[in-house]
Amino acid sequence: MVMPAREKFSRGSEAYCCCLLLLFAYDSPPSRRSREEAQYNSEFTQFPQHFQVPTVRILGIESSCDETGVALFDTESRQLSHRLFSQVEMHAAYGGVVPELASRDHIKRILPLLDEVFAESNCSLKNVEAIAVTQGPGLGGALLVGTSVAAALGAALAIPVIGIHHLEGHLLSPLLADPAPAFPFIALLVSGGHTQLMAVERVGDYRLLGETLDDAAGEAFDKTAALLGLGYPGGPALATLAATGKPDAYRLPRPMLHSGDLDFSFSGLKTAVLTLTNKLKLAGDSSFESARADVAAAFEAAIVDVLTAKCLAALAQTGMERLVVAGGVGANKRLREQLTAAAQNRGCKVFYPPINLCTDNGAMIAFAGAMRLTNGVAVSAFSDGAFSVKPRWPLAEISSR
Ligand code: KG4
Ligand code: ZN
Repeated sequence: MVMPAREKFSRGSEAYCCCLLLLFAYDSPPSRRSREEAQYNSEFTQFPQHFQVPTVRILGIESSCDETGVALFDTESRQLSHRLFSQVEMHAAYGGVVPELASRDHIKRILPLLDEVFAESNCSLKNVEAIAVTQGPGLGGALLVGTSVAAALGAALAIPVIGIHHLEGHLLSPLLADPAPAFPFIALLVSGGHTQLMAVERVGDYRLLGETLDDAAGEAFDKTAALLGLGYPGGPALATLAATGKPDAYRLPRPMLHSGDLDFSFSGLKTAVLTLTNKLKLAGDSSFESARADVAAAFEAAIVDVLTAKCLAALAQTGMERLVVAGGVGANKRLREQLTAAAQNRGCKVFYPPINLCTDNGAMIAFAGAMRLTNGVAVSAFSDGAFSVKPRWPLAEISSR
């Protein structure tokens, strides 16, 4: 499967050869010793002083789920080159991500993407000073592709490789926007797998304020989209359909709106949509067809109302004045408009990552790595070509609190 990539990239580069060897070895189980080493080698450590330089050209690699992302970020010029390959079309046929297909596709895409990034940035591997790679959370096999390539490149180039928490990538990504928020801020993380409110004091200092007790916001969008007969992933398709509907045509519940805490719950909302769509279907196919846009709009309004109210409550509770929104659902137009207006009314400001960096990407991983390195914050460091993945990795573990 990796032969075409090898033919294309056989240019005598020691680093690329190293990557390919690791990709070939990907299916073989690690020896006990190497597993122990990998555990040990990826502990949080402080890099030696000479790595904490203000200028770092850092390579970022993301392969935790169904997007292969590669980026090169220069902390001094803030120049960013990045490339992304989304596997959405491949997984759409199955109605969700198929982990084994995801890993195999990452293997196919990652080296060509690296090549494209270097071509765009007019840099070569020799110019890279550090590598940041998503170490978790995510799909184990998918994470192994990015981490093995990063570890191989790091060993071949004798440069540091650090493992980045995927959610840290998302929550720092609004700092790539112009204007960027100053610390401290509240971060709303709304992705396919997570819905969390965090207080961010500085890089590496994250405090969980609240999270979903069941479905994530993106998951609720995807499941509701499936009920409405839309494809996978459903969020963007549902938002498009909702734009043509009337949000007040149906009144759907706003779960936990008045719970008094900062937690969320979206599974009841999805069940309410299920009950409504079943009723509409019983009334005949044409009723369902003509009501779909209104149901989509009513669902979107309900979820956006809850997200907005909880964000305002988090700002009030902490006394902070800045809110950043990250993760795939952060691309939602209604959420952006409603949050921005509501926060402005309270004298607060909302920041979003550039729209193309809302979903998974390598740029946010390169950036999070750069922020940790340049701020001298402890990192999960790989060494001697050893690596490990952390498919389940609580964000609290990387916080200095
Ligand atoms: O952060 P992300 O790319 O991947 C994860 O780490 O999960 O988020 C993907 C999620 C999916 O559930 C997708 O349906 C949702 O973000 N999403 C949206 C929109 N664009 C992506 N949800 C609502 N409106 C959108 N415009
Ligand atoms: Zn994500």
